[in-house]
Amino acid sequence: MTATTETTATKATQVPSFTVTLKIMRHIPSDVAPAGYGEPAPAGTTRWDTFTVQVHGTDRVLDALHKIKWEQDGTLTFRRSCAHGVCGSDALRINGRNRLACKTLLKDLNPSKPITIEPIKGLPVIKDLVVDMEPFFASYREIMPFLITSGVEPTKERLQSAAERERFDDTTKCILCAACTTSCPVFWTDGQYFGPAAIVNAHRWIFDSRDEGAAQRIEILNDREGVWRCRTTFNCTEACPRGIEVTKAIQEVKRAMLTRTH
Ligand code: SF4
Ligand code: FES
Repeated sequence: MTATTETTATKATQVPSFTVTLKIMRHIPSDVAPAGYGEPAPAGTTRWDTFTVQVHGTDRVLDALHKIKWEQDGTLTFRRSCAHGVCGSDALRINGRNRLACKTLLKDLNPSKPITIEPIKGLPVIKDLVVDMEPFFASYREIMPFLITSGVEPTKERLQSAAERERFDDTTKCILCAACTTSCPVFWTDGQYFGPAAIVNAHRWIFDSRDEGAAQRIEILNDREGVWRCRTTFNCTEACPRGIEVTKAIQEVKRAMLTRTH
């Protein structure tokens, strides 16, 4: 062990452990036998379950969910993959706010009170905390999230200046977690709305100097379910775990639509 990792490990063990109560929304799909859920509950229903767990001071919400699943109720269902804020699979509504479970420390959530965990809003719930992401990815696919060019393929890389690259740097950071889209009141009431994440990813290509598909993407987002549905509530910007200025990106796409100067 190096001196640095030794110091980090020592510090981690010094943070006192504590007890935390999690109130978790459970959704029982109609095709799952209620017996699989322990206490009888009618299939196809939603209920709150409360769990108490002993956690380390450095634990995140994801660690508590793992502890519950491994030690108390193996049927608790949630998504996660990287556990380090990269894959975007564990966005949840935690204490009423969209966050990544793997990036949210329990000690920062006022753990003296029960912490509520719900699935992100506006997408169909499949089971417990797992939602159907297909409507979200359908919008993403619609904006054509890939380089569009014409002419002969170059034999060398397509050059771009540092300033040109900087123009869309912020929106390259998106991990498609859906925290922004599912925090948007417009999306809650109209699931057809493209939503902030699709617009962020359109922005990433619209302002890329190497891309030639901006006009097509702008046309797609000039739809009645496109950028003009945004009411600038800033929920999306607040929810983004990558710190992307989501509302600003939406405004820039609106402006590009009006001026077509890109
Ligand atoms: S813009 Fe932020 S909140 Fe929205 S999907 Fe991308 S990373 Fe998640
Ligand atoms: S598990 Fe990958 S971002 Fe949280």
